[in-house]
Amino acid sequence: MNYTKIYTEQARRYVKAINGKKGEVAWQSPSNIALVKYWGKRHNQIPENPSISFTLSESYTQTRVLYEVGMSGRLIFRFNGQANPVFGKRINSYLDNISVFFPFITNISLEIHSTNSFPHSSGIASSASAFSALALCICQIEQQLFGLNESPEAFFTKASFMARLGSGSAARSLFPEMALWGKSAFYPQSSNEVAIVLTDYHKVFSRFHDSILLIDEGQKTVSSTVGHGLMHANPYAKQRFQQANNHIALLQEVLKSGDVMRFAELVEQEALTLHAMMLASSPGYLLFKPGTIAVIDKIRNFRNSNHVPICFTLDAGANVHCLYPEENEHAVKKFIESELLAYCSQNKVIHDKVGEGAVQI
Ligand code: PMV
Repeated sequence: MNYTKIYTEQARRYVKAINGKKGEVAWQSPSNIALVKYWGKRHNQIPENPSISFTLSESYTQTRVLYEVGMSGRLIFRFNGQANPVFGKRINSYLDNISVFFPFITNISLEIHSTNSFPHSSGIASSASAFSALALCICQIEQQLFGLNESPEAFFTKASFMARLGSGSAARSLFPEMALWGKSAFYPQSSNEVAIVLTDYHKVFSRFHDSILLIDEGQKTVSSTVGHGLMHANPYAKQRFQQANNHIALLQEVLKSGDVMRFAELVEQEALTLHAMMLASSPGYLLFKPGTIAVIDKIRNFRNSNHVPICFTLDAGANVHCLYPEENEHAVKKFIESELLAYCSQNKVIHDKVGEGAVQI
């Protein structure tokens, strides 16, 4: 399937909407945490390797868009009720970018109101939830303006494509429970242009928990965009992309079998490799804080001494995502309270879990 071609052709059909037509759409879309990481990309947000993530439930963005046709590209953006010029600029260039697929955007006024259920730029993938929520809104505006009647599957696939153009990992965020983005020989339906929902896995993973330990709430010193860019000259990049492909195959097996101890090993190896790539970049950099390392050690000790299948993973930041099956919730939360909270900024932890994906609100 060539989605770029399909959506370019659609754009030729749905160019100009009726002047004065107006309406309102709203979506809630969650963040996600990658198990096999996407790190490194080509032109147009094409990933260098496939990735798989858990969709979260408590960490989400809610976006409401009011639109009116004929007002020539006027944009108002409010984040948590306030103007935010930095985000506004990024959204403006995103809208410019996707206007090849939605030509009507150049002749429409948009008022966008967004709120997050979690602190942005805290190491929780806020761009994933933000761009998936916005992409869903824009796709729905197209539906309303031109009276389209796509299947929910076609609608979500198009939204995933558009979300990807804002932030790669956003392509995965809108699907329930688990999603895969990037072409993999082990998933025939997979694509570099859109994410697909995963369905064939042991039920233990539908109820996995992710307690996010906020070790550091400051802005990241090196953005993901810069980090992806540094992969071009990383001497280990080729091996890394090969490893990620192999990990997709291993994870596929583990997900089917429900072997949570092997899951733990694989997920931790992925997280450490992601950060190893940052260390080996030129210039190299380090996003860990002392608390990150202390918490990683404690999680590993807890797993080994109690035989509880708890593990950690990391995004491009210092915060630690602590993953564990639902049946271990009580024991793990007690462990977090007594041993890990002390490393968190103002004792902050977000108890999240696998969720159902984006919903219209
Ligand atoms: O979607 P981006 O460009 O913010 O990149 C995100 C990359 C990681 O979060 C580190 C890994 C991933 O697959 O989500």
